Amino acid sequence: MAEHHTTTEAGAPAPSDTDSLTVGPDGPILLQDHYLLEQMAMFNRERTPERQPHAKGGGAFGHLEVTADVSAYTRAAVFAPGVKTEMLARFSTVAGERGSPDTWRDVRGFALKFYTSEGNFDIVGNNTPVFFFRDPMKFQHFIRSQKRLVASNLRDHHMQWDFWTLSPESAHQVTYLMGDRGLPRSWRHMNGYGSHTYSWSNAAGEIFWVKYHFISDQGVENLSQEDGERLAGSDADYHQRDLYDAIERGDHPSWAVKVQIMPFEDAKTYRLNPFDLTKVWPHADYPLIDVGRFTLDRNVADYHNEIEQAAFEPSNTVPGTGLSPDKMLLARGFSYADAHRARIGTNYNQLPVNAPKTDVHTYSKDGKMRFRNASDPVYAPNSVGGPVAESARAAEVRWHADGDMVRAAYTLRDDDDDFGQAGTLVRHVFDEEQRKRLAANIIGHVSAGVREPVLSRVFEYWHNVDEDLGRDVEAGVRANLA
Ligand code: HEM
Repeated sequence: MAEHHTTTEAGAPAPSDTDSLTVGPDGPILLQDHYLLEQMAMFNRERTPERQPHAKGGGAFGHLEVTADVSAYTRAAVFAPGVKTEMLARFSTVAGERGSPDTWRDVRGFALKFYTSEGNFDIVGNNTPVFFFRDPMKFQHFIRSQKRLVASNLRDHHMQWDFWTLSPESAHQVTYLMGDRGLPRSWRHMNGYGSHTYSWSNAAGEIFWVKYHFISDQGVENLSQEDGERLAGSDADYHQRDLYDAIERGDHPSWAVKVQIMPFEDAKTYRLNPFDLTKVWPHADYPLIDVGRFTLDRNVADYHNEIEQAAFEPSNTVPGTGLSPDKMLLARGFSYADAHRARIGTNYNQLPVNAPKTDVHTYSKDGKMRFRNASDPVYAPNSVGGPVAESARAAEVRWHADGDMVRAAYTLRDDDDDFGQAGTLVRHVFDEEQRKRLAANIIGHVSAGVREPVLSRVFEYWHNVDEDLGRDVEAGVRANLA
């Protein structure tokens, strides 16, 4: 005997789980079989649109624990010594659709939401510390070039390399992507990066520039191209399964949280543009500083409710944290909330997974699927004691800007070039075996469909990154295509 009766969505006992209402056992179905109609209608509406991009992913809940004292740099309550904060993490591939294999070569998303005592704070990063370009005008074009051709609906390496080689600032990120980190062993075995330069401000109102690093306690491990391809065919959800099973068996993955801090004034004269997302800050100049550790220890109970409807957005900042003059980050500050309103709905912030643990006092009201009641007054200023803004936040002056309105690239500094840091990664970070795998991955990828005039640009691109690598890539591809 089941513990509960099935019910309609309105809570009334359902008449039957197996038989629709008909005129006699062999007659037509009646329109008043509301339960049957409801079953069909609910089913037809089960899918929300998938994310564009980062459609395939998974995640888990956990907590961040601050073990160091970084109060000299930020007044954020979430980063105060000893504070423990509940959180959600979602990992993803960028280009694949919702059912696509976890082990395709791609950058991995690394999105974190912290339910802090001052509202939600999100860091929406990747498993690489840089990105493909530095002006947001290119983002939509970039994503389309990584997805599918219009007519055949096929992924296309020619289109990918066409975009990359016409955007030479992509060389650093493409080197990461074609290297070992383009195919992580699992989500547990990859580092995460905020990638952008963000800002912090301390209790005295001093501003610092900050980069977030999340270093895997499981170590960084990667799959070979062959294993990735095999798993893509045999277990498309390999990474999702790995995380879920690890947490179920009590093997809770964790990451050390660290930051690089740049004093506000340094940014004006640093040899690289510190807001250029295609560059890292060398650790020799700005070493890693410990903050704490986050641990994922609870699987979601309902994937749709808690992962598919999860809404991460760089615009979720809390007092003591903020954005920066990075043009990419500023565009992202708009793009994500807009994506959520379109994909999930106007009131997406009221869903349990997105709702802050703090009280919400806004003057906004109405909209589809709103269930938190608004109350009068619905305007400000008002004379009946409604909520007022926190003036300390208005005083968080971020930076100074002045100049004509222009459409122009960032001003170049002494060490700003497109290929320098990519070359350093190849020559000084990768070892001999990693360099061999990098060359093999590029050769395999390019040999699968790249044609002239893109092919010649591919060779030039890698010659610019590193002469030896360029020579090996060109020889390998020409041999494959001969
Ligand atoms: C101008 C540049 C960019 C724009 C306009 C942009 C826009 C978007 C949009 C619209 C989504 C889908 C959001 C959703 O439906 O939930 C998304 C997802 C995502 N983006 Fe970006 N993006 C940009 C650059 C970046 C960069 C540089 C990073 C990492 C450093 C990044 C990391 C992510 C991640 C991790 C997700 C998935 C979030 C999740 O798990 O729900 N994006 N992006």
